[in-house]
Amino acid sequence: MGKINLPLLETERLYLREVEESDTYDMYEYAQLPNVGPVAGWEPHISPSYTKSVIKMFRNKYQYGQLGVFAIVLKSTGKMIGTVELHTYVKGHKAELGYTVSPYFWGNGYAYEASKAVIAWGFDELMLKRIECSAYTTNFQSNRVCEKLKLTYEGIKRKGYMLYDGSVHDVSCYSITDDDFYSMVRKGEW
Ligand SMILES: CC(C)(COP(=O)(O)OP(=O)(O)OC[C@H]1O[C@@H](n2cnc3c(N)ncnc32)[C@H](O)[C@@H]1OP(=O)(O)O)[C@@H](O)C(=O)NCCC(=O)NCCS
Repeated sequence: MGKINLPLLETERLYLREVEESDTYDMYEYAQLPNVGPVAGWEPHISPSYTKSVIKMFRNKYQYGQLGVFAIVLKSTGKMIGTVELHTYVKGHKAELGYTVSPYFWGNGYAYEASKAVIAWGFDELMLKRIECSAYTTNFQSNRVCEKLKLTYEGIKRKGYMLYDGSVHDVSCYSITDDDFYSMVRKGEW
């Protein structure tokens, strides 16, 4: 499959563009912290060179038919403060929304603002039918982002995810369909 180049998306306060090697230090700043990766299912980064290898892997995802990862960049300062992506992509059908924001910037609505733009891209440009999002039931911030996005709550996948340390977690499942999305757009609610 050919590479789908990520567009530059712009929101009120953010630019979203493909993550690049020059993001290594901004990403390592938050990805090394113990309260970030594990609640999203990944291990804290152990060094900047590990972060660099993760970015390389993100940029090579197209080789497996997957989409790339957007860096969330603050317009005001140019700082890269997180990532947002549509992963587990099935062309013409569905993908899963994933996001991470640096704790230094939590609670400002950035995950919500970035996700809104990426969901719109998924429906308008990728012609997806469904976008899913899931979070540990205990990850209140992520569950709240899904609620703010007006995703439909579909229930709990009990013991649905095994973390890298072997612990097993209940997962809240949310989704939005193209019908939901365009209905909100028509009503001016998106
Ligand atoms: C989840 C995450 C991306 C949210 O980023 P963010 O930019 O702070 O998100 P937003 O500001 O858009 O929204 C967060 C919401 O959670 C709320 N919140 C924060 N702590 C909370 C808590 N303990 N209980 C309930 N809600 C909480 C905030 O008040 C905000 O809601 P509001 O706008 O109604 O006030 C960020 O916390 C993060 O990166 N966490 C670690 C990685 C992760 O969990 N990724 C998602 C995996 S599914």
